[in-house]
Amino acid sequence: MCGIVGYIGNKNSVPILIDGLKRLEYRGYDSAGVGILSNESAEVYKKEGKVSDLESHISEFKLNSKVGIGHTRWATHGIPNEVNAHPHFNPEKTLLVIHNGIIENYTVLKKNLRDEGYEFISDTDTEVLVNLIDFYLKKELNLCNAVRFALSKVEGTYGIAAIYKNEPDKIVVARKGSPLVIGVGEEENLIASDVNALIAHTKRVVYLEDNEVAEIYKDRFIVKTLNDEKLQKHIEEIEGSIEEITKGGFPHFMLKEIMEQPESIKNSLRGRVILKDGLAKLGGLIGYEDRIAGSKRIIICACGTSWHAGLVAEYMIEQYADIPVEVEYASEFRYRNPILSKDDTVIFISQSGETADTLAALKEAKRKGALCVGVVNVVGSTIARESHTGVYIHAGPEIGVASTKAFTSQLIVLSLITLLIARKKNLSVVEGREIAQAILELPEKVQEILNQNELVEKVAEKFVDAHNFLYLGRGYQFPVALEGALKLKEISYIHAEGYPAAEMKHGPIALIDENMPVVFIAPTDSVYEKVVSNIEEVKARGGRIIAVANNDNGKIDDLVENTIKVPSTIPMLMPVLTVIPLQLLAYHIAVKKGLNVDQPRNLAKSVTVE
Ligand code: AGP
Repeated sequence: MCGIVGYIGNKNSVPILIDGLKRLEYRGYDSAGVGILSNESAEVYKKEGKVSDLESHISEFKLNSKVGIGHTRWATHGIPNEVNAHPHFNPEKTLLVIHNGIIENYTVLKKNLRDEGYEFISDTDTEVLVNLIDFYLKKELNLCNAVRFALSKVEGTYGIAAIYKNEPDKIVVARKGSPLVIGVGEEENLIASDVNALIAHTKRVVYLEDNEVAEIYKDRFIVKTLNDEKLQKHIEEIEGSIEEITKGGFPHFMLKEIMEQPESIKNSLRGRVILKDGLAKLGGLIGYEDRIAGSKRIIICACGTSWHAGLVAEYMIEQYADIPVEVEYASEFRYRNPILSKDDTVIFISQSGETADTLAALKEAKRKGALCVGVVNVVGSTIARESHTGVYIHAGPEIGVASTKAFTSQLIVLSLITLLIARKKNLSVVEGREIAQAILELPEKVQEILNQNELVEKVAEKFVDAHNFLYLGRGYQFPVALEGALKLKEISYIHAEGYPAAEMKHGPIALIDENMPVVFIAPTDSVYEKVVSNIEEVKARGGRIIAVANNDNGKIDDLVENTIKVPSTIPMLMPVLTVIPLQLLAYHIAVKKGLNVDQPRNLAKSVTVE
């Protein structure tokens, strides 16, 4: 998704903008640009490709300006090229605008503006917005009012920033559906799509809500509604450090985040497990525990990896908390007519807290009276703020597009929610203690698996040239099979599918030959023998097998070509362990293919558009 940064203060804005854009690269993009105001004019510099290409391009101009905006573009309308890159500008090049989102009625607006004599040089919806603002500037409105009037005509989503040569003392920003945060400094203020671009300058932030517009000066900011009503906004203190969002000596953010999972899991469960009583303590749910435990039904809505975590939670909650669970793709849920009532609890899982489909599903569930619970990583994100209640997973900033530590932290929080509900229902203190103890032991067990990184790398070496993969698992390991397949396909571009192992005979087994590597997630659980039968079926057809199995399983090494061993734990927590080798396998295959592991092609870290 696009990245937005802005600066106004006493320093040269240009290096600040470039650094901010670099901290937003993980969001995914294909071009970048900056816009600044100088005494004579408004200047725009943009390049297709990486922020570093833009940085090289502008280095020759020795730019120096106290106010500027920057943008990384993830193309929605118009191919990735210099003309379509942001900032976009009005005919006189006195007004510069950057935009994250989609203007759905841009064709109608473009026609109306053409009728007013405007011409367009790009294929973007954003250029329509610039000229619409310009149309109101020419009616003697000031920048803020021109932006308000223009946005009142817009249908769709936006996070925008605008600077105007005739009003060089401010940046005007507005949001609807795409995140925008104000960074409050000393004699300087910043704006960004997310806090990762602000944290090097300030930890004091103000989150804009939908339909809010703000004038950002170097020493103050004024927030209003689109209807020009002034608002009092709370300045919040953000968590995290600059160290947490840099690579810390690792070659890629993804490897750093895989390797820090013992720590991130500790952070997710810190202060939340009461071992002696076999209980979970989740401050965010206080006041809602009985309503959640009394739900007639729990629905889980999410996308991608978060949806896989929801599938694991379905098994957890139905096994221990005695409540029926349905897991929904948020993108489907939001456009169906889901039958909901106040007796339903809907859990929204989202690392970024900004996924458009998940946010829309949340608003739909709220409209229908269900209790909405957010399980989110980014503090202060929109889904976290829109939910009635919720639990932060505290995995820390996840920069790599492929979600790893957030997934295991989601599972930790979902297991704690399961424990909390179950202990209000039929789970005994003895059973509760067993689950609590098993959760507390996870960080050490994850570290034990990570210590096999080199073994997994050797296995990966054998499969770099594969063109297809199958991932198979049963029960709790079926969602892990889906997650392992997603990890591989999204960073190595190898086609991979996850299936319930039993489904093989219903079609997929036709794919098996010596060119089809098959990953079996095969812990020694209640269905292990059935998985072994599936392994035999694949072997008999020449399939090459990688098996993830328990440390104490000595037999499987004679059965399959490659085994990766993991410690044992209770079945509901095994996904936290069995997913680790699959994260490493995908990572090493992608690295050996020389691919951009942290910013895979076509992908974004946070999908804030439909
Ligand atoms: C997973 O590796 C991907 N990055 C993607 O599937 C992601 O999980 C999905 O877009 C949901 O994002 P969210 O958790 O921020 O809502």
